[in-house]
Amino acid sequence: MNIPETGLSEQELGERLHRAREKDTPFLSGRVLGSMCTAPHPASVETFRLFLDTNLGDPLINPGVVELRDEALEMLGDLVGAGPRSGGLFLSGGSEANFTALRLARDTTGRREVVMPRTAHFSFRKAAHALGMRVVETGLTETFEADVEDIKEAVTSETACVIGVAGNTEFGAVDDIEAIGEVGEDQGAWVHVDAAYGGFILPYLPEPVPFGLDVDGVSSVTIDPHKMGRAAIPAGCLFVEDEEVLMEGATRTPYVSTERQAGLLSTRPGAAAASMWAALNAIGHEGYRIQARSAVEIAEWFGGVMENKGATLIRKPGLGIVSLAVEENVAARELLAEEGWKVSLTTIVPGIRIVCMPHVTTENLTRFVEGLPNTLEVDDGRILHA
Ligand SMILES: Cc1ncc(COP(=O)(O)O)c(C=O)c1O
Repeated sequence: MNIPETGLSEQELGERLHRAREKDTPFLSGRVLGSMCTAPHPASVETFRLFLDTNLGDPLINPGVVELRDEALEMLGDLVGAGPRSGGLFLSGGSEANFTALRLARDTTGRREVVMPRTAHFSFRKAAHALGMRVVETGLTETFEADVEDIKEAVTSETACVIGVAGNTEFGAVDDIEAIGEVGEDQGAWVHVDAAYGGFILPYLPEPVPFGLDVDGVSSVTIDPHKMGRAAIPAGCLFVEDEEVLMEGATRTPYVSTERQAGLLSTRPGAAAASMWAALNAIGHEGYRIQARSAVEIAEWFGGVMENKGATLIRKPGLGIVSLAVEENVAARELLAEEGWKVSLTTIVPGIRIVCMPHVTTENLTRFVEGLPNTLEVDDGRILHA
């Protein structure tokens, strides 16, 4: 396809764009069951439009959106146990936050080894590769949390960063962050907690477990407003225990109105930061509490329904994520997609994964279950490719 010699008419543009959009599966269709993103809150959508042309990379032009970002970071800091010395960065998502954490760990410790459980998100591998760091993978407990004894053995005086995950991608399992913090601290390593997914759920559960900067030894935490936070994509944040460390490794930015930038991107969407502010203020603690608890409850209910149908859960639902054992999981995903249902995969044990984000309701899941016999067959307690 070539750039047209003259611009298309408004009508033709609209038709082509709508044809493309019709191929997408909107979250609000209720058929996206395997994503950690969701429909942004209506206030986030409106705000994104309002701030569409703003660039966080140049505060001279956009002091208004910078103010909103800073206020939102202050609010978010509260969720991740930030203290008076802590600092936060607004970034493009969990991957950039995890990348930045590894860079800070490498530069602060002068070491290059990353110790992480097998369940850690692939963004750490990307980052380690780009940063010239070496990954040491550690094992898991039977319920897919990081095996702390294994971490203890792997962490040495060469370790730059130890990673704990507060809500892992495949199962929603939460690692023992207090124990990981202790192990890292003993060896002078940076301890990073990836709460990209769990950060908006854990603080709102009836019995919250500690996972943030208020845990001894924890140096940084990732939290993603574009997941359960309901901000528009791209919105991810990194918080560090000591704000000064952020700026030590930052790059000088001579021609724009920042002195230094600590993140990877330069020009970046102020609209996403403003939408994060809007989501936090429109939803509030009460809204997030209802959302988090209902994700957990729906996942437990759905897990039970599937077990009654003879399916095997790989693990009990964790933070709203249901993992079903499916041997031919890629084929199953394709079959379900043909029926309009978009699920994702588990890989540690082959399976499919349903994430009970706010757009995933008991009504949608009931429809999904009712449609199952057409696409998948339950046999010997496992869902098989029909
Ligand atoms: C635990 C965890 N960390 C990091 C990421 C990466 O986040 P993003 O896709 O926003 O870069 C994900 C994505 O699902 C995740 O589940």
